[in-house]
Amino acid sequence: PVLYVLNGPNLNLLGVREPHIYGRETLADVQALCEAAADGATVVFRQSNHEGELVDWIQEARTEASALVINPAAYSHTSVALLDALKALTIPVVECHLSNPAAREEFRRHSYVSLAATGIVSGFGAHSYELAVKAALRLARERSA
Ligand code: DQA
Repeated sequence: PVLYVLNGPNLNLLGVREPHIYGRETLADVQALCEAAADGATVVFRQSNHEGELVDWIQEARTEASALVINPAAYSHTSVALLDALKALTIPVVECHLSNPAAREEFRRHSYVSLAATGIVSGFGAHSYELAVKAALRLARERSA
């Protein structure tokens, strides 16, 4: 199986950006964790600061991926465009966050993306991605069985 792991704005600064909230691991470290957790599946790991580029990648996943993990970052809370793109998918979608947005500022408590997510993993730092990858691949394998 092919698993897309997509990352939204400012996650390129992971490790140096608010490390007390997001941890010391870099995005390259997170990618390595995802690849290790993927257990032989192919991981396509990408990050963009641009909403439209993320929309393009989600559309690409319609034909290229058997599951998708996404940390939409700030776009979680703002983007109907990401929501609509995700709604066009038929593969499992796992929303992933390093922090627990429900325990932070009020404006982080709502995620448009959650409306299109099969499930959500948040609050475990880089480990959230490991859990999300395992959950996404399990769902993909169940569907193809
Ligand atoms: C985040 C949480 C978002 O609220 C925030 O805008 C981010 C990162 C997380 O992984 O905890 O950029 O998605």
